[in-house]
Amino acid sequence: MTSPPSHLWLNALLQALQFAQSTWLSAMYALGITDDSHGAPAWPWASRIAGENLVIDVSLARQFAWMLAAIAFALLCLTIALCWRRAWRWLTVAAIGALVIAPWPSPPLWLAAAVPTSFHTSPTGFTVESIARGARIYAAQCVACHGDDGRGEGPLAQTLRRWPPTMASALLSRRADGELFWHVLYGMRDDQGVTMPGFVGRLNDREVWAALDYMRVLSASAGMAAGGSWPVPIAIPSVAVKCGNGPDAPVAAWRGRQRVRVVAVDAAHPAPFEDPRFLTLLIRTADSPTASTASTASTVSAVRTAASPQTRANVTPLFGARADCVADSPQAWQVFAQIAGASPSSLAGTEWLADRDGWLRALAPAGRRGWADGGLMCTTTTALATTTGDPLTATLRQMDDDPVRFVKGGFVH
Ligand code: HEC
Repeated sequence: MTSPPSHLWLNALLQALQFAQSTWLSAMYALGITDDSHGAPAWPWASRIAGENLVIDVSLARQFAWMLAAIAFALLCLTIALCWRRAWRWLTVAAIGALVIAPWPSPPLWLAAAVPTSFHTSPTGFTVESIARGARIYAAQCVACHGDDGRGEGPLAQTLRRWPPTMASALLSRRADGELFWHVLYGMRDDQGVTMPGFVGRLNDREVWAALDYMRVLSASAGMAAGGSWPVPIAIPSVAVKCGNGPDAPVAAWRGRQRVRVVAVDAAHPAPFEDPRFLTLLIRTADSPTASTASTASTVSAVRTAASPQTRANVTPLFGARADCVADSPQAWQVFAQIAGASPSSLAGTEWLADRDGWLRALAPAGRRGWADGGLMCTTTTALATTTGDPLTATLRQMDDDPVRFVKGGFVH
């Protein structure tokens, strides 16, 4: 995978721009200058700053940053000049000088067409239920053009003037969520007319968001089929989790706190032992017996750390306790199988790793040598860690060293 450069300043710049634009939008909404659209404040202009262009063109981003710095410097000089009248001449000269020296990259390069929902974010929480609903909507409304596998080769595709894009690419992440939403609702067109029909009136807002959730999963599986890896890291789908006899809690509540290992278990693939390096989440097929993960109880205290949600009696003498946080959702198995690019019947034994920010980053397919073959996907560092020792530790280290730098409208990787 060729990745754009991942300069830290670029990431900070993009995040600051995103923050500035959405704060500005909230302020305008609070002042009554703009209305709402589909349940959130509407972006009132036809353009926005194109983070997706800056992220792939570092020299443009650098010029843009200098331009902002020059404008800020000029404003500062003029403000000081207002308070300190004696120096106003020098300060005005400095302000004009900064503006003259600054590079002024051409606006079409750093502006992109915007729609009222450009800054909207998905309300679904990327739950397995929403993804499953999206799958049904996709099968009914979208598959004819976009195809079963999301590669844009459905039966209707060849009758279209423009071929639907393949989802085995980073396309969905390169676009702002709210713009994808708008495109599905109101369609897309080029100079010669409509390229994709809109679904307003046929699908409600929630259904469009659900279809987009499903398309992200489809993108991961299309990537697996095409090149053996996900085009971009995919968020860990949220699902209700039950640990021991504790109450249900959504996996989303784990995001931002701990790494998560997801393991597909069945009768032949028992739950692994707890590991202090991550939280372990078990998924199982709907038909497996409820207590399948329990192991022989023992009184020896477990090797546990703060990473484990609770301490329970479910312990074996040597290795600690078996993992017992289970996602009891009938859809989870199906969704995770698709993300792994595997068929549901051969999924047991597969493992996934999510980083602390909740991005699935690594996959160890069933039947391989666990993590010995690596498994990290979507990374900016091409060299595999040459650490000797435990391959899982090496994968975790690589994952932590190379976090996903995410900005709306563009992944740095
Ligand atoms: C009649 C064929 C057709 C159908 C039906 C269709 N699409 Fe599309 N879709 C296209 C074409 C063609 C494009 C490329 C349009 C372009 O780039 O101008 C596209 C592009 C997209 C994109 C990329 C948007 C972007 O910003 O680049 C998304 C997302 C998408 N479709 C989602 C859907 C969803 C969800 C459905 C079902 C609810 C759907 N499509 C149904 C033909 C179709």
